[in-house]
Amino acid sequence: MDNSDVVIVGAGASGLMCAIEAGKRGRKVRVLDHANRPGKKILMSGGGRCNFTNYTIEAENYISHNPHFCKSALSRFTQWDFIDLVQRHRIPYHERLHGQLFCDDSAKDILNALLAECRQYGVLIELNCRIDKLQVAANGGFLLHTSLGERRAESVVIASGGLSIPKMGATPFGYRIAEQFGIKVWPTRAGLVPLTWQADDSQRFAPLSGIAVPCRVDYGGRSFRENLLFTHRGLSGPAILQISSYWRPGEALTIDLLPDLDIGERLRAERSAGSKAKLQNSLGEYLPKRLLQALLDQNLLAAAAANCSDKQIAAVAERLHGWSVKPNASEGYRTAEVTVGGVDCDSVSSKTLQSLQVPNLYFVGEVLDVTGWLGGYNFQWAWSSGWCAGQYV
Ligand code: FDA
Repeated sequence: MDNSDVVIVGAGASGLMCAIEAGKRGRKVRVLDHANRPGKKILMSGGGRCNFTNYTIEAENYISHNPHFCKSALSRFTQWDFIDLVQRHRIPYHERLHGQLFCDDSAKDILNALLAECRQYGVLIELNCRIDKLQVAANGGFLLHTSLGERRAESVVIASGGLSIPKMGATPFGYRIAEQFGIKVWPTRAGLVPLTWQADDSQRFAPLSGIAVPCRVDYGGRSFRENLLFTHRGLSGPAILQISSYWRPGEALTIDLLPDLDIGERLRAERSAGSKAKLQNSLGEYLPKRLLQALLDQNLLAAAAANCSDKQIAAVAERLHGWSVKPNASEGYRTAEVTVGGVDCDSVSSKTLQSLQVPNLYFVGEVLDVTGWLGGYNFQWAWSSGWCAGQYV
């Protein structure tokens, strides 16, 4: 039997951070993962450059049934603390739009830094390890039955992540453990995920695949100004990924394709000036012609602004500023970056991340019902929650 003070299930972002912190405190830490290498999602993140945090991290950037839960951890281990780690390891990085921080070279730099700290603090990582059963041991602590043998620990940390990208090793392990101990799990759904066309829209819009335009997308009181990307299956790009975490099937999104201008006013001005230019040329200054052809009446596009009625101009403005799209579905966990929902935050201490029902059982990272926006927020949650649990396990 192999004894440890702490067993962490999941060698991803939150598990490694928790392991480092517990190791620093002199705890004997073992990390178990069924994958053949640690931190696979770190490696594939941010297009291989890992958007590891954001200059602005607020509770408002997270979705949860308890919107206050994330505040404690995020304020105790902040983006500045993670940036400090990145700088200590001399990892070159840069800022992109909206305060997002990415590695200059490779996401490997982040993983290597975490693994170096794990080695420094004596953390043992066991890979290719299937966990068959977790139970409370007769004389306290936990017993884990694994494909590598039995493992005993005083504390167990569930850092097994969400359901996105099953091919990368995502499993519902953490939810099953919570349920086993009677801890509530909120229903899960794919987040930060492309949305697909309804059959009718598919015919009309699939040929636009590859077109990207800036837009503002609105749904359920949320609004994001980002790029929109047409794909052959549906809509993607940062605007859609952001809103997808809120979107519910059967409902429509409203997309403003010209958020920086009032196209009705422009066209009325052209009409007053007696413009003979065809609408498709006037509008073509702002939007790709193929997109205009898919969205607007062809006769109208062939008309000159000078000949347009108020009603026609209003119709153009309504379509381009308030395009209503009812997606069919999301692409699901196969391509989602995150899982919305998960282990109930009210069942876990926001300070220690310990279960309120089961002493010495902890939940960190994405397995919890905390889902960040696109932009480094999910990794920051993983670092912050892992760090906090690491102080107590
Ligand atoms: P994480 O998924 O990192 O780790 C869980 C670990 O548990 C894995 O190693 C897995 O193998 C293991 N595991 C699962 N089930 C198990 C079982 N049954 N037994 C044993 N081990 C098990 N976020 C961000 O902030 N910036 C970004 O740039 C990106 N980019 C990005 C791209 C892509 C393609 C994806 C899919 C996701 C992102 N994300 C992101 C999201 C981010 O990767 C994610 O939120 C964190 O990795 C979550 O960290 P966790 O430690 O909770 O889980």
